[in-house]
Order: sequence, then structure tokens, then C-alpha cells
Amino acid sequence: MEKQLYYTSHVFCCVNERVPDHERGSCKALGAEKLQNYMKARAKELGLTEGESKIRINKSLCLDRCELGPILVIYPEGVWYHYETITDVEEILTGHLQNGRIVERLRVSPDQEAL
Ligand code: FES
Repeated sequence: MEKQLYYTSHVFCCVNERVPDHERGSCKALGAEKLQNYMKARAKELGLTEGESKIRINKSLCLDRCELGPILVIYPEGVWYHYETITDVEEILTGHLQNGRIVERLRVSPDQEAL
């Protein structure tokens, strides 16, 4: 059977940067780049980036949900998360990406506009 998806899960972490006093803020100013770097390295360490269920952790520019940042989205599920700490990243990696369990405490709903 033909493989349907190249990546089982594709994660886009916004690391967009704006001028410091911008009214919408930016994910980078909230530490997103450091968290994305950790997530990428940790996913590799956990063996999630190779093999049959290959997962990709990418940087992205603005996802237009700045008020909820730092924010990431996982496709093909289309699940969004607000995350702030290494513990949050660990929970997304081991819960959602490794075991297919949505991390409800970090989830951002499609119609949510504020934290
Ligand atoms: S700056 Fe991250 S969503 Fe806009």
C-alpha cells in the first residue's frame, strides 16, 4: 500500500520576531526559539524523527495566533498548543507525538483568542 504521509506528524513552532514594543508581541520574545531547539533535539533523542513514524519539528514564521504564544500546531491533526516550559515540550513529545494522546492542559481550541 502506498504511503499517504511523508511525516506521520509535522510540527510547526512559531519563532517569529517583531520589534520589542509591537502590540501583538511575538513568540520569539517569549522564548519560542529556545523551546523549539530543545524540542527538535529531544525528538531526535527519543527516536521520533526516523523510522516508520517519522516526525518533523520545524520552525515557522507568524501563525497569526500571536496572543496565544508561544504557539505551535501539529498536522495532520491540526492540534494547537500553547507552551512555555521544557516540561510542556516534554509532555507534547511523549503525550501527543509518542503516544497519540492530546495534552488537554496545553491545547488551544480553534476559536480561542486569548489565554
Ligand atoms: S508571532 Fe507567533 S503566532 Fe504570530
